[in-house]
Amino acid sequence: MPRLTVNDRPVEYDMDPEIPLLWALRDASNLTGTKYGCGTGDCGACMVIIDGAALRSCLITLEEAEGRFVTTIEGLSRDRSHPVQQAMVAEQAIQCGFCTPGIVMAAAALIQRNAAPSKEEIEQAIPNLCRCGVYPRLVRAIQRAGRVERRQERISAAPAPGIDPADAAEAVPAMTPPEPDEE
Ligand code: FES
Ligand code: FES
Repeated sequence: MPRLTVNDRPVEYDMDPEIPLLWALRDASNLTGTKYGCGTGDCGACMVIIDGAALRSCLITLEEAEGRFVTTIEGLSRDRSHPVQQAMVAEQAIQCGFCTPGIVMAAAALIQRNAAPSKEEIEQAIPNLCRCGVYPRLVRAIQRAGRVERRQERISAAPAPGIDPADAAEAVPAMTPPEPDEE
């Protein structure tokens, strides 16, 4: 059974090792912040950080994730205080929000290795699709997040969520077993 570390916790998945990591995260761990968009590697909605790199979890099998360190949007920060999250809110780079978790993870990995990215570097590092077209605001947000990371600017953290994301996932599981048929 594949063993890996998810959001700093060791996890052993009693699942087919050939299934995409995305489904283990969403259906077994109830980490539904990682989205299913296309399942074919085109949209980036499923991006998570694996050993420091932003990767599409729909393209990686559980077996391939064995022994690796996976961070999902739920594990990025407990209080939405990551610079990318702060800057995305401050620059209003979110519309419907479906693409947002994947973009935040790709941007967080970028800022980690390059805290002063150019527009071209951002476009190259964030291939994610956004149907709402937040791209111009996204570039501003990521450059602003870089300034926060470099301690050249401060942004007030977004309001704390009313419920801890992990608790929310527990209360509303992604997969609810069907009720047995009533006789
Ligand atoms: S769901 Fe993985 S890239 Fe679209
Ligand atoms: S904000 Fe709607 S898809 Fe990106």
